[in-house]
Amino acid sequence: MLARLRARPEVRFFGVLPQVDRRLAYAWWVLLLLRGVLPAALAVSMGALVGAVERGAALDGPLVAVGVVFVLLQILAPLHAEVGSNLGDRTGAWLNDRLMEATLGPPGIAHLEHGDLVDDLTMARDFDLGISGPPLSVSMGFIAGGLAEIVVGIASAAVLFGYAWWAPPLLAGAWGSTHWLLRESSIWRNRQTDEVNLAQRHADYTYRLAVDPPAAKEMRLFGLAGWTVDRFADRRRRLVDLRWEATRLHERPIRWALVIVLAANALVFWSLADSVADGRLGLGSVVAFAQVALGVSALAFGGLNWALPISAQPVVAVLKLREAMAPSGALEQRAEGDAGGMPAREIRFRDVSFAYPGAESRVLDGFDLTIQAGTSLAIVGQNGAGKTTLAKLLCRLHDPVSGAVEVDGVDLRDLDLAAWRARVTAVFQDFVRYDLPLRDNIAPLGAPDDAVLAALAGAGASSLATLDTILAKGYEGGTDLSGGQWQRVALARALCAIELGAGVVILDEPTAQLDVRGEAEVFERVLAAARHSTTILVSHRFSTVRHADRICVLDAGRVVELGSHQELMALDGRYRRMFDLQASRFGDDTDVGEEDADVVALD
Ligand SMILES: Nc1ncnc2c1ncn2[C@@H]1O[C@H](COP(=O)(O)OP(=O)(O)OP(=O)(O)O)[C@@H](O)[C@H]1O
Ligand SMILES: [Mg+2]
Repeated sequence: MLARLRARPEVRFFGVLPQVDRRLAYAWWVLLLLRGVLPAALAVSMGALVGAVERGAALDGPLVAVGVVFVLLQILAPLHAEVGSNLGDRTGAWLNDRLMEATLGPPGIAHLEHGDLVDDLTMARDFDLGISGPPLSVSMGFIAGGLAEIVVGIASAAVLFGYAWWAPPLLAGAWGSTHWLLRESSIWRNRQTDEVNLAQRHADYTYRLAVDPPAAKEMRLFGLAGWTVDRFADRRRRLVDLRWEATRLHERPIRWALVIVLAANALVFWSLADSVADGRLGLGSVVAFAQVALGVSALAFGGLNWALPISAQPVVAVLKLREAMAPSGALEQRAEGDAGGMPAREIRFRDVSFAYPGAESRVLDGFDLTIQAGTSLAIVGQNGAGKTTLAKLLCRLHDPVSGAVEVDGVDLRDLDLAAWRARVTAVFQDFVRYDLPLRDNIAPLGAPDDAVLAALAGAGASSLATLDTILAKGYEGGTDLSGGQWQRVALARALCAIELGAGVVILDEPTAQLDVRGEAEVFERVLAAARHSTTILVSHRFSTVRHADRICVLDAGRVVELGSHQELMALDGRYRRMFDLQASRFGDDTDVGEEDADVVALD
């Protein structure tokens, strides 16, 4: 029971506040209680004042009391609003910090490739942008108002006990029943259904298609503008319909609520009037009791029922991600061996099996491959063969399900993770384009300008921009690059890392957007720069692949051919078929110059 209560989103929300800022949270609660109690105190002091007037007694005391309570009422509300907004801001920052810890903390990346966590991540990430609800600094005001009302209701009911024992439970029960009667309308209770999530995702997606520059070309070319707007409007309308359906006030419960509330109030006020008529109750008392009888109405269904769930949900999402992401992105660390100078002999995938989290089938199953240190290996294979997966395992972004990736006979799990990663440099297909100066795009953690310039020259990117030019539009002097130019920048990043001492270079289709000649040229330079390193290159271009010491043909997670270009050509197997196919295609391709075709068709 207690555990279930603790697991409630609202309880978890309030549990987070003191973790964010203990003093501010307590101040918020104290102010809230004071705000809640003051209306009842005003009713009592007004009653005392009227009673004093009636009796002809001294008025100073009651007047001062009324004045003090009234002034406090005026002061505390804005003060509470400020404290609440400050606490809301801090809570937003706290949640963002926790979210970043959850995403960046785990050493692996499985937690970010896990489909189940994606929805929570979206909600947790966007919670303070005003998309799914108002920002926390604003909702805190609504929540404070709603909670203060409840305290007002309870305090008023407590005072009303002074009149008759039955009046408070009757009124509080009547107003309280509205929560139960209108519960169907209390929150957007369908918020988390698959239908809502899907409609939300579709709406957000089509909105981004309409407003994001990258989609602009296809929007025009395929005449998708109208389609996008219609689709967006349709999904948004669906969301509004769902929300309306879930939160609208239903007629019958309202009728019942009215009957119950009217009956209870009629009874209490009739009794009060009767007591006054009988002379059992003085004027002062009736003023006080009538006011608190009205005050109990604050217990009715209201704003809190909407504001609290909307704010509590992202808190729950962040807390859940914090718990779920850590184990999902964890790596098994068995020792902290020194990775300095590795690999000296070889890298070996030994009987490696791997499946992505949540996926049913394995990408690799009993995979074996040895790469001699200081040599280059090219991996070719169809889309989805598992090439990038091998690169990720080698960088230790995931651990194998079984088997091991070994360096000089040492399991990667026995090596210090940071030290091993410092030995590796990789350019992935989806490398990051930093909104930073060119210099920082080459060496995000810093490097001497000479090394940066040499790397740029090596990647054929010397004349792209000055080192201080920010590679993004929208900044002063900022510029954007073409796809191929960006790839050269990414390659320069790898070259610079080699210069700074990386011993393993992984290039996952780093040159796919370069022209054939450019690719062959750049790759030769990379090989030259990395001649002391172990290089693993993934490419679909055989003109590049052939320069590697050895070539591995991968099919559905298995090595089907392995050898040098000459050996594989002589083998007359799959490699040769793919090579010949591409050579003949380039031979026919009028866009590729004669010499380029030669580069490919040579042999
Ligand atoms: N994050 C992921 N979650 C689940 N499955 C994935 C994930 N990434 C890749 N896969 C699956 O694993 C298999 C191998 O993918 P991988 O990216 O290694 O292929 P690849 O050989 O690099 O292909 P390509 O030439 O298209 O880059 C594919 O079937 C793919 O669908
Ligand atoms: Mg790939």
